[in-house]
Amino acid sequence: MEAKGIKKNTAIWIIAVLVLFVLSIILGIIMRLNQGGAVHLDPGTFYADMTIHGITMIGIWFVAGMAGVNFIMERYVKTSYRANTFALVMTVIGVVMLWVSTLIGDFHAGWTFLYPLPFKIAWSAWATPMFLWALAVLGVGWLVWVLSLMTALLKKYSISQVFAWQHFRNKNPEVETPPFILISMISLLGVLACLIAAVVLLVLLFAEYYSHGAFVNDALLIKNLTYFFGHTIANEMLYLGLAIIYELFPEISGRPKWKTTWYVAIAWNLTLFFVLLAFFHHLYMDFVQPEGLQIVGQLASYLASLPSAGVTVFSVIVAVYRTKIKWSLSNLLFFIGIAGWVIGGVGAVIDATISNNFLLHNTLWVPAHFHSYNAMGNVLFSLGFFHWFSVEYSKRKGPERLSSLKLSFLLLGGIGFLAAFYVAGAESVPRRYSSYPVEFTSAKLLATLGAVFATVYLIAIFLFVSSIFKRCINMVLHRS
Ligand code: HEM
Repeated sequence: MEAKGIKKNTAIWIIAVLVLFVLSIILGIIMRLNQGGAVHLDPGTFYADMTIHGITMIGIWFVAGMAGVNFIMERYVKTSYRANTFALVMTVIGVVMLWVSTLIGDFHAGWTFLYPLPFKIAWSAWATPMFLWALAVLGVGWLVWVLSLMTALLKKYSISQVFAWQHFRNKNPEVETPPFILISMISLLGVLACLIAAVVLLVLLFAEYYSHGAFVNDALLIKNLTYFFGHTIANEMLYLGLAIIYELFPEISGRPKWKTTWYVAIAWNLTLFFVLLAFFHHLYMDFVQPEGLQIVGQLASYLASLPSAGVTVFSVIVAVYRTKIKWSLSNLLFFIGIAGWVIGGVGAVIDATISNNFLLHNTLWVPAHFHSYNAMGNVLFSLGFFHWFSVEYSKRKGPERLSSLKLSFLLLGGIGFLAAFYVAGAESVPRRYSSYPVEFTSAKLLATLGAVFATVYLIAIFLFVSSIFKRCINMVLHRS
């Protein structure tokens, strides 16, 4: 019954994610059209659009990873249906509150709601507390979910086993930790840390809000907490997707299961630690931040990304190089997604290098790299899982049609959309401008091109999701 419930919940998560994804892409295209001058929003509306686009995208791809990990984890341990359902209900409530606060209340402080912006009220007064309470609702739902999955793992594996420490020295340890378990635990612990930071952050913000200014926050502390939360969750959600790939890529490709080797164990343990310190690179331009932390930020940015990317790319190359494997839409999406993740990661490491950051800070290079590993990375990890799940567990099987067309549109649209961001970033066009001053001569043209390619990407997404959507609706309605 529990496993059946998790399956049905997974289908509901997928439906919700896909609906919100399509809506958020449309908001993204409207932003690019506005920056290109083809439509004219007032700045407040543009920033409300940017705020809800950003926070929805982060939220949905986080829960997509969690839902996938929860579903696969059932293969190894018994997980809690109640915690999964609780997170689902809290997510629905939180998302409705977020959309109301931004689209009706006009809250537009950006998805990072950087202090003191939420308190410089340029929107309906109720929108600030509603936005912050929405985050609290989401935080509680996700905290319970994360804790329940970690507890489920720790009931079966000891601490050293769940982190695969026995693999550091021993080639064939008595108890083997599957890579899926190792990477899930590493990611869940990281998520737990950043959700705790979010709780502290919200308590401090509420204290200032409800004391009507009698209590005033320290801006530097709040910025550190905000980016510890925001940067970390955006990275951990990628790792949730990678955990699923370590499990499903070989399986779908008809290859032997991947094992945890000493280098996989070490690389992911390094990631656990260093990803929590990499957020300091968001504060390079905050000159009051102690200098040592800036150096930690640069080193941690390299050490968090290079080992995990190295072992993952190595594992995928070994799996496909000169090997006859069964290609399907799912493992092709995984494969392209890993390429998008690595390209975005290189863009991120370039930006996280202090000498480059003087040039690239807050230019469109920033959305360029994070859209690379999201729109062409993490999204494809989850779409690969959604496709596999919907085909595997649905009665509506049938051959997958138009696969090459879908992938061609996805690649063309995705690469063109990202290239417009990268070129503009390299030309120092600033990010988060609703419309560009004339000094940025190529910015409007690039924004319009970005919107055109993003529309091609949207068409590809429509083609992908329609069949997944139908199959999941069927599962929810008991027809399979
Ligand atoms: C084709 C799909 C997408 C389009 C057209 C799009 C478009 C945009 C645009 C135009 C911006 C504002 C850029 C600026 O001037 O700073 C933006 C920001 C952002 N986007 Fe997307 N995006 C897409 C997909 C995604 C995905 C998949 C994610 C997943 C996480 C995402 C997350 C974000 C975030 C976090 C921001 C920053 C918002 C802020 O600064 O408050 N986007 N997007």
